Amino acid sequence: MSAKENILAELEKSKGEFVSGEMLAEMLGVSRNAVWKAVKGLEKDGYPIRAVTNRGYMLDKSFEEITKSNISRYLHTNYIGKKLEVFREIDSTNTYAKEKAKERYADNGFTVVAESQTQGRGRMGRSFVSPPDTGIYMSVVLYSGISMETAQLLTSCTAVAVSEAVDKLCGTNTAIKWVNDLFLNGRKFCGILTEASVNFESGMLDYAVIGMGINVKNLSGKIPDELMGTVTSIEQEAEISVSKNELAGEILNSLERNINNIDSRSFMEEYRKRSFIIGENVIVTYGGIQKSAVALDIDDNAGLVVKFDDGEIKTLNSGEARIVKK
Ligand code: BTN
Repeated sequence: MSAKENILAELEKSKGEFVSGEMLAEMLGVSRNAVWKAVKGLEKDGYPIRAVTNRGYMLDKSFEEITKSNISRYLHTNYIGKKLEVFREIDSTNTYAKEKAKERYADNGFTVVAESQTQGRGRMGRSFVSPPDTGIYMSVVLYSGISMETAQLLTSCTAVAVSEAVDKLCGTNTAIKWVNDLFLNGRKFCGILTEASVNFESGMLDYAVIGMGINVKNLSGKIPDELMGTVTSIEQEAEISVSKNELAGEILNSLERNINNIDSRSFMEEYRKRSFIIGENVIVTYGGIQKSAVALDIDDNAGLVVKFDDGEIKTLNSGEARIVKK
């Protein structure tokens, strides 16, 4: 292990308490200057360390690093997350997972998790704010035998998986907004972006990448102020402390369970139960059009059934819906 890794491990052990530079130097058999340099390096990497003269160094009490071994402790899967890579920072886990899927480096279920993203991507070409030490940003690659019909269920299947895992671990009542947003108390805490490469000859997917961005820790000071009204995190709403490693593991367990049964569409019952759009007035955006409607139902293909103001009934298999209070 490098000096940086050793010092981080020691600070982790005494999280929330100061450890003097002298003690660190003695424990690790290095000079105090080497300790100072390593701490500077860790700070540069984004670790929340406080340095106070005559007291030493302290790693923030709430800090929890996502690691492969910590996630693996909670995994009970057969293929999802079995090959797992974890990054402190990455441009986008979806971009990385897609590259690996194309290179056939990734196995079915290959998972990449990051503590932060510099170019996190959302739906419709939007960006997804992914600051360090607050969330779980992860992508899962799937290969085996997914038809185009099944592919359109992947996002909704994932939404149910995340919703179930969060509720189980955090005692929350998470809700789904068609098609891929998860909400707590009226604000979004998770977004899902599924990307796929299609083989038109076989009618099957070459691969699919399912990306999930879950806000876990308090976001204040971490995201632009103007987002605070619409975006939230699990800890802000549930007022409990959540382990990101355990939650990541639980989500992957739940995802594999749901994906294994995707063709039966059994998850759709849970999807509908957790949906809060049915019966609401909405503005839907699809194919470049915006129209107001009432959301009537969600069908077994996760399509949103709407009734427009002129009485026409239509099922939307893509697009977005915004709830409007009349
Ligand atoms: C949305 O709400 O529009 C979807 C957001 C999806 C964000 C996740 S974070 C992990 C993965 N990597 C990305 O770049 N995007 C997805």
